[in-house]
Amino acid sequence: MTKTSNAMWGGRFAAGPDAIMEAINASISFDKRLARQDIAGSRAHAAMLAATGILTNNDAEAIREGLLTVLSEIEAGTFAFSTALEDIHMNIEARLKEVIGEPAGRLHTARSRNDQVAVDFRLWVRDQCDAADQALAALMRALVTQAEAGADWVMPGFTHLQVAQPVTWGHHMLAYVEMLARDRSRFADARDRMNESPLGAAALAGTSFPIDRQMTAEALGFDRPMANSLDAVSDRDFALEFLAASSICAMHLSRLSEELVIWSTAQFRFLRLSDRWSTGSSIMPQKRNPDAAELIRAKIGRIFGANVALMTVMKGLPLTYSKDMQEDKEQVFDAADNLMLALAAMTGMVGDMTANREVMKAAAGAGFSTATDLADWCVRTLGLPFREAHHVTGVLVAMAEKQGIDLPDLTLAQMQSVHPGITADVFAFLGVENSVASRKSYGGTAPVMVRAQVARWMEELK
Ligand code: ARG
Repeated sequence: MTKTSNAMWGGRFAAGPDAIMEAINASISFDKRLARQDIAGSRAHAAMLAATGILTNNDAEAIREGLLTVLSEIEAGTFAFSTALEDIHMNIEARLKEVIGEPAGRLHTARSRNDQVAVDFRLWVRDQCDAADQALAALMRALVTQAEAGADWVMPGFTHLQVAQPVTWGHHMLAYVEMLARDRSRFADARDRMNESPLGAAALAGTSFPIDRQMTAEALGFDRPMANSLDAVSDRDFALEFLAASSICAMHLSRLSEELVIWSTAQFRFLRLSDRWSTGSSIMPQKRNPDAAELIRAKIGRIFGANVALMTVMKGLPLTYSKDMQEDKEQVFDAADNLMLALAAMTGMVGDMTANREVMKAAAGAGFSTATDLADWCVRTLGLPFREAHHVTGVLVAMAEKQGIDLPDLTLAQMQSVHPGITADVFAFLGVENSVASRKSYGGTAPVMVRAQVARWMEELK
């Protein structure tokens, strides 16, 4: 099947593309999301062409006004996107031609779709870094609010998902704040590195026109023009860094989700998710399902998948542009959309959830969680080497376990049968509240340390 050749590049073609060729080649169905960035790039380019005398002021002015008209059509939803015109760049240019006529054809002077798409996509990803930063800050605030309320609520701390030592709710919430702060700094670093302008690299080699790349870089908020034209059109590191940062962030959200799922079960009952963030079952009336948490837990799959997919697309590509690179956008769009959705849902869920203080405290005491405190006491008070204290405590734990009781329930006589030096003072160190209060080392779980960290984060997140 043939039809007339492409209006933009069809000069050397007698016939148009096969319908399936058109289908595999076109990107307009997804790259229409770059419309705003494409128009911003074109406006900067046209203004520079006029300033350098490459275009007349009249032509540049016509282009500027025409682009604004096209932008308003796109924003109003009246713009007719065409698959025959392949992508957003040619769709916009073709419409510009309809609106302003001949000067539209001069816009592409000293430019190529290769640097054009690199500019558009960089601008889009840069915006997403900023959006992720905002969303992360909001989630961190929600976690800090939880931490402030529960700075001294005792809960079990786990290793191997076995009760290990008592910790505080606030401390646990702030662990995620630390993780998310690293995510923010990863997005900030990526943004910093990507903020260079590819515009003016043209197809791959630069241009013979006397362009001013500094001017277009500045107009688009880039720190500087990219120094190598070949690199400028073939680099997608910025998208990969965004996906890498998104993957790590999504992994963090997945871990938090998993805890919310476990903690809201009837077996744990550490917390209750609000009605707004729970769903019912169509058959089991008693159910309150943590669907949002489960979906966030799963989002890492597609986000990390996007990262792997784009790495694989880029691997082995010779310099410079190859059409393979058109496969970059859907991955990034999908990852960005889902990361933002996951962050927003997590923020809502964390803001609304209620920890069950009593249940957590009871659980914190189970499983001989203060055994380390007993061993530490033996070291401090009896002067035992830690290894020996560990052994004494181990014998006491076995004794308690055999009787089906907890460590503080052993009698003093029983304790002394294992080590005669033990005194009644020891009982003041065995409760879970005492245990957490004693862990005042920097970064430790003691409420006083948690409150200090809450204050620091509140200052930082103002
Ligand atoms: N739609 C293309 C893309 O997304 C634009 C660049 C096309 N360049 C080319 N030489 N065919 O990659």
